[in-house]
Amino acid sequence: MRDQAEALRLKMLKAQGSLARSIAVVSGKGGVGKSNFSTNFAYALQISGKKVIIVDMDIGMGNIHILLGAAPAYSLKDYVSGQRSLEEVVTIDSDGLAFISGGSGLDSVLDWSEEMFSRLLEAFGQLQKEFDFILFDMGAGATQSSIDLIVAVDEVIVISTTEPTSITDAYSMMKFIFLQDQEKHFHLVSNRVAKQEEGLEAARRLQFAMSKFLNKETTVLGYLPEDPVVHTSVVAQKPFILLHPEAPVSKKMRSIATAFAGIPREVEDAREQSFLGRLKSLFSRGRG
Ligand SMILES: Nc1ncnc2c1ncn2[C@@H]1O[C@H](COP(=O)(O)OP(=O)(O)OP(=O)(O)O)[C@@H](O)[C@H]1O
Ligand SMILES: [Mg+2]
Repeated sequence: MRDQAEALRLKMLKAQGSLARSIAVVSGKGGVGKSNFSTNFAYALQISGKKVIIVDMDIGMGNIHILLGAAPAYSLKDYVSGQRSLEEVVTIDSDGLAFISGGSGLDSVLDWSEEMFSRLLEAFGQLQKEFDFILFDMGAGATQSSIDLIVAVDEVIVISTTEPTSITDAYSMMKFIFLQDQEKHFHLVSNRVAKQEEGLEAARRLQFAMSKFLNKETTVLGYLPEDPVVHTSVVAQKPFILLHPEAPVSKKMRSIATAFAGIPREVEDAREQSFLGRLKSLFSRGRG
């Protein structure tokens, strides 16, 4: 009964367009640019008037706070364990972007106590009402703790470079996620691209493989060039889109954000369960 009322309430909020889209940023191979994508993409969306929060899910090795030049006092772990409130673990960086740092020692949600899990759901429920987009920056590859969350989110942005190893690993990762959730929407971004044609071809090859072997359609959001301002911005601990707004990589990032924000929500709305609903059923399956 309670679940039904909750589902109805979520449906109404969704119809008003007031619930955040939950998005995981993933890759097969590591080090392809997910965290730099997440911070700059978040700013690109925020500059266009959207409310965005990044949740650093690269547990133990999270570095979103370093890229943003911020020093968070608390992490998601402090909230989930009941030591801190949600407000206390949300940090706003000096340029106004909200993020939650992952902290170390968070295991698979399936190992959590019921209390920790209901706190997590409560937090995500609250964030979904306050923001337009919740971006989860994931660690590389598929660990159990990350896959739990990836299966629950509405959409996945897959980052790969144009190297064949990165492309095949990105495909394996998407296949792995797809086998657990056929309705997931995948968006593709090629990073560190030397020539425009190369970037588009890499993304289209992935799109083609998904369509041919898994009969799954995906969206190509675009590509980001190899650009030295990425490195200088990491060193300066400030997103390149703020530090070098006119650099080629910043221009491409803005067009990727525009393409993404313009995608209608019907994909997500057609799904039977909400992000929270899917997390709940994952949890009960794990404990059942
Ligand atoms: N478009 C680009 N042009 C130049 N350098 C880039 C670009 N994108 C990323 N890099 C560089 O690649 C490195 C890795 O980036 P990042 O930390 O964002 O990757 P990641 O996928 O989050 O890594 P991990 O898997 O370890 O979390 C950084 O040193 C960054 O400077
Ligand atoms: Mg990273």
